[in-house]
Amino acid sequence: MGRRKYLLVFLVLAVYCNGISHAEKRNPLKDPRICGRPQCHETNNKFRYQQYRLYKYDYSMYVKTHFSGSGENSSELHLIAAVEIDFPKPCQGLLKLHSIEVRDRPLPVVEEQDFEYGADYVEPPPEVELHPKSDVISEELMRFELKFAFHDGVVGEICHEEEEPVWTLNLKRGILSSFQNSMPRFDIDYHTTETDVSGVCDVSYTMSGSKGTSLTIRKTKDIASCKRRYKTNSLIQTVPYEFRPNYVAWPILNSTSYCNISVDNFVYKEAICYERHQLVPFSNGQAGAVTESFSKLTLADEESYTPEEQNVDDEYEIQKRSSLIYDHTPSARDSHDEIKASRELLKELCRQGFPDIQRNFPDVFLNFLSTTRVLSLTALSQLLYRSKSICDNGK
Ligand SMILES: *[C@@H]1O[C@H](CO)[C@@H](O)[C@H](O)[C@H]1NC(C)=O
Ligand SMILES: *[C@@H]1O[C@H](CO)[C@@H](O)[C@H](O)[C@H]1NC(C)=O
Ligand SMILES: *[C@@H]1O[C@H](CO)[C@@H](O)[C@H](O)[C@H]1NC(C)=O
Repeated sequence: MGRRKYLLVFLVLAVYCNGISHAEKRNPLKDPRICGRPQCHETNNKFRYQQYRLYKYDYSMYVKTHFSGSGENSSELHLIAAVEIDFPKPCQGLLKLHSIEVRDRPLPVVEEQDFEYGADYVEPPPEVELHPKSDVISEELMRFELKFAFHDGVVGEICHEEEEPVWTLNLKRGILSSFQNSMPRFDIDYHTTETDVSGVCDVSYTMSGSKGTSLTIRKTKDIASCKRRYKTNSLIQTVPYEFRPNYVAWPILNSTSYCNISVDNFVYKEAICYERHQLVPFSNGQAGAVTESFSKLTLADEESYTPEEQNVDDEYEIQKRSSLIYDHTPSARDSHDEIKASRELLKELCRQGFPDIQRNFPDVFLNFLSTTRVLSLTALSQLLYRSKSICDNGK
């Protein structure tokens, strides 16, 4: 009898302890079913995205790296997609992508027409073919929807499935970074620190015009101020990387980053973002080694919908939470050989380029670019940055 009692006590204790350790793994400040903080303050919102309304954006972006001054050599990737954003909960958004196409070159600019969202697809001239990996990239990007916390423009957290690949998440982080706006109100200039795909950076918002219900705002990011650009896990994992929290940007890299934003009726009508990084030592004026990225998010249509009565989503616990900061974990798509080759070339680049530039530098640089272009979409500019640590370690 007594024995049985002990056993029972033990069992109860075991279950209890188990319960505690399970609960401890959870952040007590988080609700397991809510992305972001559980409280949602709906008052004083500068944004007025409506719940249960689909905001359909056209998205296009490119990453281009060129070594001007040595011919037409460049490496480009262009992506277009339809981006759908909606708000199933007041402070939680959902991002979905479809109709994705990837190319090596841009589609020729066609005259702006009033064509309907999702209208008949205009066949591109035959010479701009899809990238051979376009279908695979498209499939992967469509596989998962992405939940994100949205507190009046601030994307504090993204919530995703365990299996979502790092590279698709990074691309979606890029989209949400251009969607993010931390101004207290649209009509007053504002300086702040924002966390996005570039790290934790100083940004400033300046209102540049207004017309009717429409406002134009310029958001400028000071890339040199960005912290946490790097994680201890660098893309090239075999290279030990020294993590410096107060990292000052590579002084030989000259960067520009801004977005032209248009707000209409308290929602983003358009966000055009541009970033340019230039390796200063090899540059005469505008020429030199330059990586540019451009993205454009344009509101094409809106559509209200009726939510399902019993939302399955409410039962579902969030698997992983992370920030908008670019994740440098190597993606499964980047094969070991390609990463190794890029690393070797990067080392060679350092030998040829630092402290004095050798004659062979342009060749090595181009070689490096053509090897790295098969890496994930935004890895290129990240690699350029990372060469700092590789060069340091190589000394
Ligand atoms: C690109 O660079 C390679 C190697 O430096 C060179 O052989 C080739 O002619 C260049 N192409 C153009 C179009 O300038
Ligand atoms: C950086 O680039 C801008 C143009 O993009 C140029 O005006 C500026 O002089 C450059 N700064 C340095 C230090 O090269
Ligand atoms: C942003 O706006 C400025 C001023 O209106 C313009 O000069 C610039 O070309 C725009 N940038 C982009 C990428 O559209």
